[in-house]
Amino acid sequence: MLKKPIIYNYNNVMSDCLKSPICIYLEELESYAEKTKKIHSTLVKTRENGGLPFYELPYKKEDVELVKRTVSEIKSEMGEKLENFVVIGIGGSSLGGIALTRALLHPFHNLLPPAKRGAPRIFFVENIDPDQIQGFFDMLDPEKTVINVISKSGSTAETMANFLLFQKYMAEIIGENNFRKQVIATTDPKKGAMRNIADEMEIRTLPVPEGVGGRFSVLSPVGLFPAAMVGIDIDLVLEGAAFMDRITSKENLFENPAYMNAIIHYHLHTRKNVNVAVLMPYSEALAEISLWYRQLLAESLGKMYAVTGEVVYAGQTPVKAVGAVDQHSQIQLYREGPFDKVITILRVENFKNFLNIPSLHEKFEASAYLGGHTLNELFEAEAKATMLALTKSGRPNIEIVVPEVNPYTVGQIFYMYEVQTIFAGYLYGVNPLDQPGVEAGKHYAYGILGRKGYEKFGEEIENLPPPDPRYMIIPKK
Ligand code: PA5
Repeated sequence: MLKKPIIYNYNNVMSDCLKSPICIYLEELESYAEKTKKIHSTLVKTRENGGLPFYELPYKKEDVELVKRTVSEIKSEMGEKLENFVVIGIGGSSLGGIALTRALLHPFHNLLPPAKRGAPRIFFVENIDPDQIQGFFDMLDPEKTVINVISKSGSTAETMANFLLFQKYMAEIIGENNFRKQVIATTDPKKGAMRNIADEMEIRTLPVPEGVGGRFSVLSPVGLFPAAMVGIDIDLVLEGAAFMDRITSKENLFENPAYMNAIIHYHLHTRKNVNVAVLMPYSEALAEISLWYRQLLAESLGKMYAVTGEVVYAGQTPVKAVGAVDQHSQIQLYREGPFDKVITILRVENFKNFLNIPSLHEKFEASAYLGGHTLNELFEAEAKATMLALTKSGRPNIEIVVPEVNPYTVGQIFYMYEVQTIFAGYLYGVNPLDQPGVEAGKHYAYGILGRKGYEKFGEEIENLPPPDPRYMIIPKK
């Protein structure tokens, strides 16, 4: 395994390389030096006072030990029959685990025969689509299934509803007592509905550390327990994160990729109207990192109000793309559409496999030129070609070179983006740790379903006039 640092390359946003009205000049970056110092010192102080506990997750040895102990208990209790590990959670409670396991497991982990897998199959239950939930029940044998329900607040309707459904389905077949042994709740150590339910059921629990919000929790038991259950080396993930902590603790923005990336995105957004931030890994393993990043940016920075109360409407729109697939879907727009995007390419240097493209059908040029090259070369060529093509058409793009996708580099990526997001919150002057915009929709849904205390939201919906048929198209036979 290559224990190397990821490399942050921002040449293609700079005026030296990028001939474009939205390029950045070195002096513009330098002008952030003072502001960076100020934010840095606030972050250091807040961290020291325990105000940003996500920073310390790589060092929470007691949580890691608890995660490992829980994994070995469950494995020894379930023995050979353990076939499925099901995570029930949504948003920050699921996306980190999804990104981590997708990055570090065999791409077809769940489809491998048990001996090759060496770990249970893993499923994430996020949505409340009845057909999908029934689909899980059609496929999972409760005798062979362990559930990890994750909810920091315990008040998330989707997670709670899915948990209730899984409990009923499984307990009816294996009995309440066995169900209790086969479920682990990851939740707030002291408060919340999930904590109360877990205490009442006397089931095993793991903590979401105090003050760590969902989208910053991947390096806590929220992400680490699912990862450890399927055999991922969580110590190495945390070692990579701790390494990145050393790099992102530097005050100088020219030595700190998290600060620099935040500044470049903020500057492009606020000075050059670049409203869209695309993350495009050239790697299937890293594909879900873009999904995790999408939530991290959207919920942390997409804010109407600054901390001063001023209306700011902050935040770029984060977009997930995957190379090379989206070259055939998105790149046309990225190169020739509006000058409103900055594209980050995650480029992997070494894949686990090295595949020679066979020399076949040599009389046809379309296949002949590929023969003798490797798939690795083609992938690398396409990533580099895309960056050049974007640069040539004046589109700012950033390269993050990942020496190899492994626990150490993935730990670095998570940590870097978390620090970047906190720093960006300070640049925008918004609170990156809350998500008030998510609440309104939740309240109306509670109101519709008659949850106590939300009657007025239910009434408001009930009293809405029916949709005006003038603005509806209802096809007639
Ligand atoms: O990042 C966040 O805080 C949110 O996305 C939450 O993780 C999400 O809403 C789920 O919340 P909970 O873990 O309380 O069920």
